[in-house]
Parts: sequence; structure tokens; C-alpha cells
Amino acid sequence: MIKESEYKKRRDILGKKLRNNSIAIILSSEHKKRSNDTEYPYRQDSNFYYLTGFKEDNSVLVFVKSKKEIKTILFVQKKDAQLELWNGKRVGEKKAKKIFNVDKVFSSDRLTEVLDKYKEKKRLFFDLTCKDKRVKKFSKNFSKHEDIRKIIESMRLIKSSSEIKLIKNAISITTKAHHNAIKFKKPGKNEYELQSEIEYDFKKRGAYSDAYTSIVACGNSANTLHYIQNNQALVDGELILIDAGCEYDYYASDITRTIPVNGRFSKPQKDLYNLVLDTQLRIIEMIKPNILRSDLHKKSEELLTRGMIELGILKGNYKKLIKNKKHKKYYPHGIGHWMGIDVHDQAPYKDEKDKEIPLKKGMVLTIEPGLYIDKNDKNVPKKYRGIGIRIEDDILVTSTSSENLSEGIVKSIKDIEKMSSKF
Ligand code: GLY
Ligand code: MN
Ligand code: MN
Repeated sequence: MIKESEYKKRRDILGKKLRNNSIAIILSSEHKKRSNDTEYPYRQDSNFYYLTGFKEDNSVLVFVKSKKEIKTILFVQKKDAQLELWNGKRVGEKKAKKIFNVDKVFSSDRLTEVLDKYKEKKRLFFDLTCKDKRVKKFSKNFSKHEDIRKIIESMRLIKSSSEIKLIKNAISITTKAHHNAIKFKKPGKNEYELQSEIEYDFKKRGAYSDAYTSIVACGNSANTLHYIQNNQALVDGELILIDAGCEYDYYASDITRTIPVNGRFSKPQKDLYNLVLDTQLRIIEMIKPNILRSDLHKKSEELLTRGMIELGILKGNYKKLIKNKKHKKYYPHGIGHWMGIDVHDQAPYKDEKDKEIPLKKGMVLTIEPGLYIDKNDKNVPKKYRGIGIRIEDDILVTSTSSENLSEGIVKSIKDIEKMSSKF
């Protein structure tokens, strides 16, 4: 859990970053319709949550900055016995004033009235893509608009110790789910059964939700990068790529393991698996402050290209293959991404001058090389066709190198086979 004092600290930092004589508006998420009168489960906006820890909808955080002070105002939903009977309790203004260390609390229906007091300010910071009619109308009072998201998201790059603790909690739940998946899988079961087991484990252990839609892809399905149908049988002799991670108290985990349905890797599966694994381990070893993520990616392209030449998947001169990016057919995605409140954390990769931001202590990123060989790819030795492999861990950058937060999840061939044979 993150304390209100930490949220207050974040608001103070943000307040200092705003320009003088300005107003900033940060909105909660809206409900999203699923169909007719059903909705997707509500999830708070990540930036709003980062600054408040408040999970209720129809809430707004406002900063008013003048030369002499920075005022924070929180708008929350009014208490309403009838609506609370249907939709659950609301904190309400009175209690919110006690919980949140902000200067003022109002009910959300007073947003326009209160904002109008500040329409003489020079500059407005808000989400430039927001659809809120009240904010859009208010924004017409200003000639100078700035994107508040950019400022908050750059703050989210470096994780505090309490954030790291929550990420570790998420990973620890995800670890159990992946290990149980190794025990559960067997020929004849369906991908959705495995998915259900994994997600049952998330919920059973207190994770609010999955951090993204789980991918449980057997055999050739693993070559569809965003395969989420998860409705095919687990076939003896094939691999299953499982990309699944829970969200725990608003913090993500993002883990991929690729395991054999029958518990044993075949020789061609081993060749490909070890190439991806060796690449992943080499890249993780490179991680330390000041390294560029693009250098990690470049190295992963080099290692996978060399390995694919050795296996006869790519043919020709190494330099030419690299220059022509021939690996992209088999390794089409990046080496990894920031992770935090969002699985693909909304944090910048480049600074204001468009220069790549190097790794720093406290950043969390995934490292997830993969190789995907389509079953109909006639350019590749037959034995490798229809195999898709990704191995993904969540890495914290430390002052000297890195900590693999998910290293407890088995991933060597020996350990996966050993864990499979136990059940
Ligand atoms: N699970 C999404 C990703 O690996 O980026
Ligand atoms: Mn990922
Ligand atoms: Mn993933």
C-alpha cells in the first residue's frame, strides 16, 4: 500500500513543475460501455491514481498555481444513498477532506462553477485528448494549452520503494500462477482451461485483475503475437507460450514462459528455446544505469541473428542480414518496455530534446526476446516450423546493475522439465 504522504509528495513535485499562473486538471477514468447496459470493470486512470491513490470515478484533481502558492483541489462524487445502494459506497466530500491532504474538496457537480473562478489564468495543463465536455468548454478560455500527461508520465519513470514492493507482490502472485500452469497443463486440455487456472490463481491470491489479456498459445498460435482467442486444444509434442501477469493493487507484472505440453522439449524446440534464453540472459547482464534500451535491443538482434544463422533459419552473410534487418521476420518486436501502473507504462522513452532516455536506478522494464517461426515458412528447416517462443522477465535497474524481479519463475529447460515431471 502506498501512503497518502507519498501521493502528497508526488502532487508537490508536480505542482513545482507547472508553470506560474496556470491551472492543471487531471480527470479520473470514465466508465466504458461493453454492450447495451453492461460495462467493463471500472479501472481508475493511471495518472490520476498515481497522484491520488483514489479509485472512484467522476473525480477530478485540480492544481491552481500562482506566484505565491500552489493550491490543490479534489472533486469527488457526492454521497447518494440511492446510487450507493446500487453501485457501492462513495467516500464523499467530508471523508475525502480527512483522507487526502489537499487544500480543498468539492463535490464533482461543482467542477464548472469552481473552475470558472480561474479562467483568468494564463495557461491550462490538461489531457489534450480528453473528451470531458466541462473541461473542453473551460479550455476555450485559454490560448495556451499544455499536455499534463507528459509531466506526470515522466515522474512515473523512476519507481519508489513502495511501488517496487507492489510490483514484487504482483510478480510473486504471477510466479505461483505460472508454476501451477506447469503442473496443470497436459495434452488434451484446452488453452482456456489453462488460462482459467492462471487467472483463478491471480484472483485467489488477491490480485485485482490481470494486467492485460492473457495469451495462452499452443503450437503455431504462438506466432500470432497478440493471440488471445485461447480456445485450442493443448497438443502433445507442442509448446505453449503463456504471457500472463496479474495486476496487484494497481501495479502490473508481465511474464512470459514457453513450456512443453507433455513436459519434455524436443531437440528442435531445445535449439530454439536455448537461443532465446541465452539471448535473454545476455541482455539482462548488460543492464545497468546509463545503458540505452536501444542498445539492448540492438544486441538482442545481433545475438538472435547469429543464432538463427547457426540453426540454418537465416542464410547468408551476417553483416548483410543485420543491415537488411532479416531477423525482423522472426523477431518482429522490441526487447521490452517500461512497466509499472500500466503494463506498458506510460512513461517517456525520449526526453524533451527527442534524445533517448538512458536507464536509471529505479526504472522497471521487461526483457522479452522471442522467435516466431510460422508453420508454413518454407525458408526454414521443417523441424523448426510452427514453433513460437518468448521468454519475458521484469527487471529493476539498480545503482550498479539490475535485479531480475521474476527470476524465481523457472525458465531453464532443466528446471521446467523437472517441475513438469513432478506432477
Ligand atoms: N504482455 C504484453 C507484453 O508483453 O508486452
Ligand atoms: Mn511485455
Ligand atoms: Mn508480456
